[in-house]
Amino acid sequence: MKHGFLFVLLFVAQAVSAQKAINVDAEFASAAKQYEAMLRSLPDTTRFPQSTLPDGKLRLMPSSWWCSGFFGGSLWYIFERTGDARFREAAHRWSMAVQKEQANTRTHDLGFMLYCPLGNGYRLTKNPAYRPIMLTGAKSLATRFRPDYGVIKSWDGYKDGAGKRYEYPVIIDNMMNLEFLFWAARESGDKTLYNLCLSHADSTMKYHYRPDMSSYHVVCYGDGGKVLAQRTHQGAADESAWARGQAWGLYGYVVMYRETKDKKYLNFARRIADFILKHKNLPADKIPYWDFDRPGEERDASAGAIMASALLELSTYGGASKTYFKAAEQMLQSLSSPTYKAAPGENNNFILKHSVGHKPAKSEVDTPLIYADYYYLEALLRYDGLRKKTALKS
Ligand code: GLY
Repeated sequence: MKHGFLFVLLFVAQAVSAQKAINVDAEFASAAKQYEAMLRSLPDTTRFPQSTLPDGKLRLMPSSWWCSGFFGGSLWYIFERTGDARFREAAHRWSMAVQKEQANTRTHDLGFMLYCPLGNGYRLTKNPAYRPIMLTGAKSLATRFRPDYGVIKSWDGYKDGAGKRYEYPVIIDNMMNLEFLFWAARESGDKTLYNLCLSHADSTMKYHYRPDMSSYHVVCYGDGGKVLAQRTHQGAADESAWARGQAWGLYGYVVMYRETKDKKYLNFARRIADFILKHKNLPADKIPYWDFDRPGEERDASAGAIMASALLELSTYGGASKTYFKAAEQMLQSLSSPTYKAAPGENNNFILKHSVGHKPAKSEVDTPLIYADYYYLEALLRYDGLRKKTALKS
């Protein structure tokens, strides 16, 4: 009797967890529909879908904006899953639309802008046109690294909340552009690009992270690489934990481990994951508030999507694998629910609702954001790949 009861319980538990598995095919089918409508709504390839304006209209941005690569990248993910040739064609068109940014030396965001679209396109199609654009772009990005400072400069100057100006600010987001440099180092054989990533990541470990493993948003460097100030730009306060910043850092150190196999980066990524997942202000649905120190305010779906994608990769490197996988799965379940996922034809045809771009500037608060969609699609692909692998093993 006792055994019979346990058996039923086990059966129910398995059934419930099976019910909870995300239907990745269905998610991509609805994403494809949204993006077909998005493609139809766009005037040309000179302005890229970004978010929703306060008046409800679609916000479009030029190729020089840091987010210009996410639309092409998202189209590649949809092509990857659906095999639909129309998405391959659109992904190519929107990827080539960013090519002039390869010569842009005024931003650290070239990884987002070039590698998300063209890197995915190259991975999937090996189109030889993409490679030289990315190699030039990586060189442009590397011009922003000063060896005596040991880090890549994020912005050409920054004024903090008190109006004090700094000339060499580095933001935690910058960790995300190292993946692009690792690729370029491998493709070109230029070891200096590889070493540059190590130097940037090591300084960021030292100066961006607090003892509790939360990250500052902006660290301002001065002569000889001396740290002058630790600030926020998009977070609630200098000492708060801006949610997307924590997500960028987590993703960045997972990539550092993937590329170097140095355990210090893996341990670091695990400690960041612990900060996030054990945080008292992480809501039950695991989609963070826009800042961990502003519980009860707007959620940031983009941070949830980036975290989910990073945690899924982290789950493949041992340690608390199950915890990371389950947390990511729960994030994806939340994002795939009607609370965060737009109904067909709504939300200016973006997939996800409820992200926050820059709340202190009152910009993009509780709107869709193109990069939330990008990392959501990436995470779904990773999730499905991992589930299939586990199914093959069991
Ligand atoms: N990289 C800018 C942001 O995350 O908003």
